[in-house]
Amino acid sequence: MDCIQPIETQGATYRYEEDGQQAVDHVSLSIPKGSMIAVLGHNGSGKSTLAKLMNALYLPTEGRVLVCGLDTALEENLWDVRRHAGMVFQNPDNQIVATVVREDVAFGLENLGVPQPEMLPRIDEALLAVRMTEYAAAAPHMLSGGQKQRVAVAGVLAMQPDVMILDEATAMLDPSGREEVFSTVRKLNREKSITVVWITHFMEEAALCDRVLVLHHGAIAMDGTPREVFSQVDELKKLGLDVPPMAELAEMLRQGGLSLPAGILTVDDMVKELKACL
Ligand SMILES: Nc1ncnc2c1ncn2[C@@H]1O[C@H](COP(=O)(O)OP(=O)(O)O)[C@@H](O)[C@H]1O
Ligand SMILES: [Mg+2]
Repeated sequence: MDCIQPIETQGATYRYEEDGQQAVDHVSLSIPKGSMIAVLGHNGSGKSTLAKLMNALYLPTEGRVLVCGLDTALEENLWDVRRHAGMVFQNPDNQIVATVVREDVAFGLENLGVPQPEMLPRIDEALLAVRMTEYAAAAPHMLSGGQKQRVAVAGVLAMQPDVMILDEATAMLDPSGREEVFSTVRKLNREKSITVVWITHFMEEAALCDRVLVLHHGAIAMDGTPREVFSQVDELKKLGLDVPPMAELAEMLRQGGLSLPAGILTVDDMVKELKACL
């Protein structure tokens, strides 16, 4: 089935029973096919709750969430929703279920009831896509954090989802692991047109996405291209967020007298503008 609209939320709201607060508060959002959207927001702003609404781990207490046009609240859609929208979580150790990498990637496929002969090529393809082929027979606990997260990504990828939701998938990794996982997912997004929802608190990752969404008290506070969002420095600071390191450095250099243009977000931008400037 063709998925034209991977994620659409219509006034989606979620209230935890315990405290009665709206963790996600009337969020209306539509994520076009093939895009990679970063979701930012300080702790408790509702990012994880929104992520869980996007693959029917939670059902909205008000409003609707549609995954590839399927209403997540309808019980008969549950398995299709989970197949279309795969999740990767923060802690790589909590996501590994098998003692061999290949079996770990197979786990989701077994749950979906994919026939054995079809499973093997899908597993190989997924491991290749995250550059973990040579570890297929390895024990997951021997891998680095970045490698474990790539195995988790392969597990989702093998299910051939239309959208991948990664909830702070790089938060527990060292800088090189973070880069590994981010660039792997960005590449899958570009080359396989997989739609990605990338929840993060690293501004430099958000700067490399197509679109940036900022949540505050469960509602959308900002929504635009990285350049649009990160040029609003005061607004970001009010919401408890930083600007990307290169944007901050550019601002310092400007105050030191260099005439750098607005919109510098990445190291590449900085190098280019400094060359032009010197
Ligand atoms: N299991 C839970 N029970 C009750 N309240 C929760 C639960 N999980 C999160 N919350 C509350 O919901 C709000 C949003 O949390 P969360 O979605 O985890 O935000 P984020 O991922 O941005 O840190 C917070 O106020 C948090 O305290
Ligand atoms: Mg969270």
